Amino acid sequence: MIIEPRMRGFICLTAHPKGCEQNVKNQIEYVKSKGKINGPKRVLVIGASTGFGLASRITSAFGSDASTIGVFFEKPPMEGKTASPGWYNSAAFEQEAHKAGLYAKSINGDAFSNEVKQQTIDMIKADLGQVDLIIYSLASPVRVHPVTGVTHRSVLKPIGTTFTNKTVDFHTGNVSQVSIEPANQEDIDNTVVVMGGEDWSMWMDAMKEAGVLADGVTTVAYSYIGPEVTEAVYRKGTIGRAKDHLESTAFEITDKLQDINGKGYVSVNKALVTQASSAIPVIPLYISLLYKIMKEKGIHEGCIEQIQRLFHDRLYSGAAVPTDDKGRIRIDDWEMRTDVQETIAKLWTESTTESLVEIGDLAGYKQDFLNLFGFGFDGVDYLADTDEMVQIESIK
Ligand SMILES: NC(=O)c1ccc[n+]([C@@H]2O[C@H](COP(=O)([O-])OP(=O)(O)OC[C@H]3O[C@@H](n4cnc5c(N)ncnc54)[C@H](O)[C@@H]3O)[C@@H](O)[C@H]2O)c1
Repeated sequence: MIIEPRMRGFICLTAHPKGCEQNVKNQIEYVKSKGKINGPKRVLVIGASTGFGLASRITSAFGSDASTIGVFFEKPPMEGKTASPGWYNSAAFEQEAHKAGLYAKSINGDAFSNEVKQQTIDMIKADLGQVDLIIYSLASPVRVHPVTGVTHRSVLKPIGTTFTNKTVDFHTGNVSQVSIEPANQEDIDNTVVVMGGEDWSMWMDAMKEAGVLADGVTTVAYSYIGPEVTEAVYRKGTIGRAKDHLESTAFEITDKLQDINGKGYVSVNKALVTQASSAIPVIPLYISLLYKIMKEKGIHEGCIEQIQRLFHDRLYSGAAVPTDDKGRIRIDDWEMRTDVQETIAKLWTESTTESLVEIGDLAGYKQDFLNLFGFGFDGVDYLADTDEMVQIESIK
């Protein structure tokens, strides 16, 4: 079929298999161009199919020749209906990994469930014995709790007072005011249950009990802090409470792994265009200003550049892992540079529908958004008849 982007608000209903393949290949080439990393050899990535998790899987495999198991929750294709992008990304990843002689298997299912945890443990036992690194990179709006069976939904709301600020509709470039009502306690609790550290901890407990964690194991989950303009809706909002919980869970995990010399870390990453971040009001305007400034300064990075730097300069540099005063690894250091943030604060007040075309990088935002779904890549013939029924080798 001929596959075109079909946009509906903050999502695209279609994905292009060849474009997703190109995206994965570009990321692999980037990692290879940076040389080998003296990193982990057996890696589990939970949330491995898109964004930071996919970049983590690619960096592990092609940066340090690791065997990888990827867990994700994606929609397979049906005749005449494309799969979700993470499905095609994972199909392309496995194909490239297998071509390179690397072990790569995937599990498509709900990572919050006991069943998927058990399936993963069984796979590690049978194929790898143990793992050296676990990356926890889930982003989900909903979690069915495996013990209570209750469905929890996360929300993106401020806490305490109504938040009013500017936002942009990145499809039209229209800058407007948005107001978001504050969360109630139930909203806060639900968001912490979905995006906090409980599930990460459950994964680590189950794997430790099963004996599949190697001596000296490392686990890393991803967090975000961001600037003052997004603070009310992000870091001091409901999602921020969940990230606080995730960050404190890292210390609990380190305590529990002491006897096997293991370590739990949180890495604070840069703001990037993903399906999740596009849906948060205010963030797209911030990102379009951020991209412009970081590109002008030559310090712009995407997921793969961020994660390659995380592995090469932070986790596996050979020196002690550098952390901030709260024990977090920081690869948002360039985003948070004073010169970058001072410029954003100034441009923020000036941004309007008219001025954003000049002072922001809306085109870069849109390009990244299209790329998430496999559209807009050089070297892909989007007019060609394309097979949507692409399978993932290990899931076939
Ligand atoms: N995007 C950003 O700007 C940004 C910045 C800093 C930190 N982070 C954090 O990085 C992490 C990953 O975010 P992302 O932006 O890469 O997200 P993403 O949407 O690109 O990836 C989410 C992954 O989780 C998987 N997933 C979701 N629900 C699942 C479930 N129930 N079971 C199994 N897999 C499931 C998806 O299949 C996918 O692989 C999140 O913790 C996020 O908060 C994101």
